[in-house]
Amino acid sequence: MAPVAIVTGATSGIGTEIARGLAESGHQLILSCRSVNSGERMLKEIHRTHPQSIISIRNGLELDDLDSVQHWADKIKEELNRSKLKISVLVCNAGLMHAPFKLTKDQIETHMQVNHLSHYLLIRELEELLKGGRVVFTSSSLYKKALKDVPLLCKGPECPDYYEVDNGMQAYAQSKMVMNRCALGLTTIMPDTTFIVTSPGMVRTNLSRNFAARSWTNTFLVNTLWHGLGRFLLHSPTSGAAPGIKASTDINLKSGSYLTQKGLEEFEENCLDQELITEAIKKSDELIKTIRHHSVL
Ligand SMILES: NC(=O)c1ccc[n+]([C@@H]2O[C@H](COP(=O)([O-])OP(=O)(O)OC[C@H]3O[C@@H](n4cnc5c(N)ncnc54)[C@H](OP(=O)(O)O)[C@@H]3O)[C@@H](O)[C@H]2O)c1
Repeated sequence: MAPVAIVTGATSGIGTEIARGLAESGHQLILSCRSVNSGERMLKEIHRTHPQSIISIRNGLELDDLDSVQHWADKIKEELNRSKLKISVLVCNAGLMHAPFKLTKDQIETHMQVNHLSHYLLIRELEELLKGGRVVFTSSSLYKKALKDVPLLCKGPECPDYYEVDNGMQAYAQSKMVMNRCALGLTTIMPDTTFIVTSPGMVRTNLSRNFAARSWTNTFLVNTLWHGLGRFLLHSPTSGAAPGIKASTDINLKSGSYLTQKGLEEFEENCLDQELITEAIKKSDELIKTIRHHSVL
């Protein structure tokens, strides 16, 4: 039986190419998508180059809604348990950048919830199925830009001004910092699972869509620089997916590794601070507690 790989955010950019790479390496894929239409488009696209691959889509994963994540995880657990299958690889890849400051219906800042907290909930819910497998995170080197004096993970409308720094870049950096710290924390909490953090470099994808939507000038900049000149200067989605594919398939990588386009790198000291790692895990657990408790009742 082919090993099972789950990829979030596979409808576009880096996620589609990671999925393609995993199909090529013989995985059976479960790809998350928000709508059936976008999922089927992506399915056709991967089947075009890999007609033999075993792929199925599971729609309805809205990462800005913890109830939706819980519901999606429940369906996956039920399905895999019924078929007596484990998860070989879970790629936490979906994400957004440059979105205006907004709280989700769960009262969490949007970048923090979509990029980090929802994936954290997914991992904790799939914990048993992930034993013996690995989790790969598509993080970013921009985690280094996270400010040290801003509360990283909180409920409520705290610090909107900070989050808006650089058109929402600060919110993005914060979410990736917490993602990295939790990945490191999970290496001890879930010792039977391997956790690898990756950074794909600057990749010409749709990630710039929220920046473009902020003004006409931005739209012009994104079209001419990012999608135009970027053809020569930035990574293509295929090349941007390389660290994610290696992290998913190279069994020699140790849990807690950080893989970039240059190979294995060290995390910044600020990311490795044990107290801050423990705090990131504790706050993430607190924020998903009500949802998990709710689903048990
Ligand atoms: N591009 C870069 O230069 C770069 C650099 C460093 C890190 N990254 C990271 O790479 C990852 C993939 O991004 P990308 O560059 O491939 O961008 P992309 O082309 O915009 O793809 C983003 C993916 O995330 C999904 N997504 C966004 N918001 C979601 C939500 N609320 N619920 C469910 N799915 C959602 C999107 O689904 P829809 O199609 O439904 O919108 C899409 O499949 C992100 O985590 C990003 O932070 C990218």
